[in-house]
Amino acid sequence: MRLSPFGKKSYVGLDLGHHSIKAVQIDRSGSGWRITKRDEVPTPPDSIKDGVIVGPDPIVEAMRHLLKASHIHATSAVISVAGGSVVVRNVRIPKMPEATLRRSIKFEAGRYVPTSVDDSYIEFEIVGYPEPGQMDVLIVAAPKDIVESRIRVCSAAGLEVEIVDIEPFAVYRSLVETDPSAHYSDQTIALVDIGANTTSVSVVSAGQFSMTRSIPQGGRTFTDALKGYFKLNEEDAEAGKRQLDLRELLLEEKPAENPPLRVLQPHIDELIREIRRSLNYYQSQQTEQGQPNPVTTVVLSGGGARMPGLDEYMAKKLNLEVRTVGILDNPRFSYGGTDDPGTGLELSVASGLALRAYPRVA
Ligand SMILES: Nc1ncnc2c1ncn2[C@@H]1O[C@H](COP(=O)(O)OP(=O)(O)OP(=O)(O)O)[C@@H](O)[C@H]1O
Ligand SMILES: [Mg+2]
Repeated sequence: MRLSPFGKKSYVGLDLGHHSIKAVQIDRSGSGWRITKRDEVPTPPDSIKDGVIVGPDPIVEAMRHLLKASHIHATSAVISVAGGSVVVRNVRIPKMPEATLRRSIKFEAGRYVPTSVDDSYIEFEIVGYPEPGQMDVLIVAAPKDIVESRIRVCSAAGLEVEIVDIEPFAVYRSLVETDPSAHYSDQTIALVDIGANTTSVSVVSAGQFSMTRSIPQGGRTFTDALKGYFKLNEEDAEAGKRQLDLRELLLEEKPAENPPLRVLQPHIDELIREIRRSLNYYQSQQTEQGQPNPVTTVVLSGGGARMPGLDEYMAKKLNLEVRTVGILDNPRFSYGGTDDPGTGLELSVASGLALRAYPRVA
């Protein structure tokens, strides 16, 4: 363990993404928070697979470089897990005492956990008693190899891990929960984070998570499509992708021929179809329970959401309000650095993690 000069702990929010590793440190500032430090480094190729750190050495090196370059002298890290095998589900089960549920949680969770429950960390929270004899329970499960491989690299980079959060919880905290101007916070929203390898979709109803699903598609899927079709190298495909504007696909008149956009369109449509499938699934569960609680707003985050016009295109396809939100859209966050972080679209996970160091919002 490393101690800062006064023996006080200092925290960094660390988002170990498939595309980049992001670090955020915050300080209290008035009634909000100032981002005092933030930085990111590219994730070394093939070092994270489905959330598991499979190349620890290059990751540790990248983390050390990141902390040094951004002058982050933290003693502790708050990290998160995400991916297809991380489960967040609000389930309705027969009412039982908490102690009984604790004993049978593995059995309950076993219905939803795709991998072995013995290889997962499982937590639960009783969220309410909607009708006599029933209770709603939020079950959260994460594979041990994802959690432990992440803790190991932090520890090798000199950071003690005290909290392991779930990625969509961190996004919700930084983009919605702490934002007094988020008028949709008491409605049912879909949090959609488009990363490089995965897109996570969570439905949150007035602050309560109903479900999270991870779709194995993201920004990299789009880059790969351009790369394959036009025989481009990674850099050119990535640069080309960033120049495309999806609003062209919404024009009334016949759009000018834009081959890259045409190559991309089916992949974007496929991702939107998967998002819709998740929302439909949520909806069917709600209807089954006799409480239609439709999603009103999609809150879009992650680097993949930077694609110009994606929000408009998605709004049209899903017939829902879609908002692209970064942490600097939240008026309680300010930025203390000199560079321009835009709206902080990629920083929602790391910032939400950094917030965990402040007990008032944890
Ligand atoms: N201007 C842009 N236009 C289109 N895509 C972009 C733009 N900027 C970044 N991206 C894409 O965003 C993705 C990276 O997003 P992000 O940093 O949120 O991913 P990550 O968190 O590292 O990955 P994951 O969440 O899958 O672990 C990349 O695929 C990148 O191509
Ligand atoms: Mg991410």
